This record gives sequence, structure tokens and C-alpha cells, in this order.
Amino acid sequence: MQCIVIGVSGGIAAYKAVELSRQFILHGFDVKVIMTEHATHLVGPATFRAITGNNVSVSMFAEGSAPMQHISLARDADLVVVAPATANIIAKMAHGLADDLLSTTLLATRAPILIAPAMNLDMYRHTATRANLEILRGRGVNVVGPESGSLACGEEGEGRMTEPARILDAALEILGHDTRLSGRKVLVTAGGTREPIDPVRYIGNRSSGKMGYALAVAARHAGARVTLISGPVSVEPPGGIELIEVETAADMRREVMEKSKDCDVVVMAAAVADFTPVSLSEEKIKKEGREGLTLELVPTSDILGELGKDRRRGQIVVGFAAETEGLLENAAKKLREKGADLMVANDVSIPGSGFDSDNNKAALVFADGRVLELDMMPKGELAAKVWDMVVALLESNDAQ
Ligand SMILES: Cc1cc2nc3c(=O)[nH]c(=O)nc-3n(C[C@H](O)[C@H](O)[C@H](O)COP(=O)(O)O)c2cc1C
Repeated sequence: MQCIVIGVSGGIAAYKAVELSRQFILHGFDVKVIMTEHATHLVGPATFRAITGNNVSVSMFAEGSAPMQHISLARDADLVVVAPATANIIAKMAHGLADDLLSTTLLATRAPILIAPAMNLDMYRHTATRANLEILRGRGVNVVGPESGSLACGEEGEGRMTEPARILDAALEILGHDTRLSGRKVLVTAGGTREPIDPVRYIGNRSSGKMGYALAVAARHAGARVTLISGPVSVEPPGGIELIEVETAADMRREVMEKSKDCDVVVMAAAVADFTPVSLSEEKIKKEGREGLTLELVPTSDILGELGKDRRRGQIVVGFAAETEGLLENAAKKLREKGADLMVANDVSIPGSGFDSDNNKAALVFADGRVLELDMMPKGELAAKVWDMVVALLESNDAQ
């Protein structure tokens, strides 16, 4: 797991560093926060501790802390982000001062550094601050912002800290991460649903969740904020993803409808039950005294169809079609009926592909009639291909 050391200095935007820490955590990073003494007057270290799950370092000589925190934090970091960066810390960095834990760590680290300056307009305009920033840029320090707008001091102008989502993007770019889905929110569904018959039995299916989980991980790797709505599966929950666990098709529908509202992309990889028992027996159904058992089933809601109809402008909807015959025709028909943009069609009758397997052989069927038949490949690879296609669809939507 990559480690981000976030240095929080004593600017009013220190509260935004809480959201920034959360965003790094959601992207699967280990986050360690160093606060300057002045910053602790603006936000409490306990907030960062709760968000990151790590102790927050303020003093170099704190009882119980590592004896040489400035060195261990400097070495742990894959990237040091200073947000907000006050005029003071910028000046100290430019001149090599090391009089507190943050400035000393910044001097000791070999990791790349990203700073997000934030200050009053006149402090930012000051020749000293301008010169200090030039020195830092010349040394290869990455600078993001500041932006123009209304400042906390009541004045208007340049000096606002760049929003956390953009600082995160800049950080991901420095770390060489795929940022094609940065700033996008995506929803992925995974696994099968369980329709209860009685307190101990249910109607389920063979979906393992592997495809949906691979899609969620691949989206996160491309920089997206990911919500994964999952039926019961045996796959380990991935880090950096909002995971919502559901059981029945009705639970899945409720969560998808709620969570999809502000998403740019919805990928329905879950195998949602098509039918559910008309009624649920409150007691376990006994075998004794029965010749047989007939279950009456009713169709469940058509989640993909509802999504296709009620989607917000520009939202991309991707469905999965698991077929045992007439793969391409059935997938194209399903795509038209549901109003999806892309259908991932897989022939689940091929041995070693589809349900519960690590590989999948699929064809991608597009709304404009294109069909891309793919070879058998690991689910992670197929997931990356699906996102390649989704990125292209998002870009063509943006261009319109
Ligand atoms: C409420 C408040 C808000 C402040 N906001 C900023 C700011 O946004 N940017 C800045 O450079 N200094 C700001 N300052 C001044 C710094 O806190 C001060 O220069 C301090 O010495 C910075 O120390 P540090 O860089 O070690 O945190 C603020 C001071 C106060 C009292």
C-alpha cells in the first residue's frame, strides 16, 4: 500500500485537509498526517486520527512517538503533500529551515513533494512568497493552485486552496497512476442475490462476485470514486471503495436507485434474481408429511431497465448479459430493451469462463451497433478493457 504523508500547516483551509485525507484513504492509500503546532489551533488532530486510523504527529519530541519521526515519516512517504501550505512553510522550505516536525521531514524526504498554497491575497502577491515559490518550483516541488475566489479573510482574489479532489488528481498524476476516471463517481454491482424461501433457505445463483469486484478495483485504479453494491460473496472486500452489502434483489434495487443518482457511470455486473418467492414462510418448511413442494415465484424489478430509462444526463449505463445460447443477438436485444450504452455479453456455457471462474470470455456490444469479441482473459484484464470503453464513451459525451 502506498503511503501519503500529508503536512497540514496553519492556514484556515486546514479543515479541507480532512476531506483530502479521506479522499486518499478512499483511493486505497495509507495516510499519515503531520500537523504544525499552529494548524492544531484550527483543526483537532483527533479528526485526522479518526479519518486515517493513524496517529497524528505534531511534535518531534512527543513522549511515546518514534525517536526519529522526521526520518521514519520521510522514508515511509511515497509522496508528501502539504495542504494547506502557508506562506510560512513555503518560506521555510525555500530556505531549508527545519525547526519543527513538518519542515524537518520535508528536508529529510526523498519522496516527491506536492504543495497546495493557501493564504490571503497580499501574502500570496508578496515578492517574498513569489520568490519562494519560484525557488521551490525550480527544485522540482510540485505546486497546485492557489485558485481565485472569495477568501476567508473576506477579500476576493488569488489565494484559495485548490479543492481536495484536484489536489488528489495532481497527486495521482505525480505517482504515475492512471487518472482517466479521476473526479468521476462510479457505481458497480457484484455477486448474486438471495431470495429467501424460509428462515434457512433461499434461491441463489452461481455468481462469485469476482467480475464485479475486479471492475470496482480497476475503476479505483483509474482514479474513480467507487461504490460497490454487493450480494453475498466470498471475495475479500477491496480497500479504498465504499462497500454496501445487500442480500435480495429488492435490497439491490433500493441501494442502486439511491446511490446511482450522482454517479457518472453505473455498471451492473451483479447476477440479480429474476424471480422471487411470492411469500416468505416465517417457519422453516418441514419435509415430514409432504409429498412435494411447489414454490410460486413472481418476477423481480428490472433494475437495469429502470436505470436505462431514468438516468441522469450523460450517465453511462453498462449491463451484463450471461447467456447460454444466441449470445450476441440476446445481448443486443437486452441492450436495446434496457436502454444501456454497453452490454458485456458472456457465454456462461464455455468451460472455464464466467460464473465462479477467474477468467471470462466476453463480447462487448455497443448501443451504436459495434461488437467487439474478446478472447478468454482474466477477469481483471476484462475489467480494464470495459473501463477503456467506458472512458471513451464518457469522453465522447463530454465532447457533445
Ligand atoms: C485564523 C487564522 C487563519 C490563518 N490562515 C492562514 C492562511 O490561510 N495562510 C497563511 O499563510 N497563514 C495563515 N495564518 C497565519 C499562520 O497561521 C501563521 O503565519 C503561522 O505562523 C503559520 O505557521 P505554520 O506554517 O507553522 O503552520 C492564519 C492565522 C490565523 C490565526
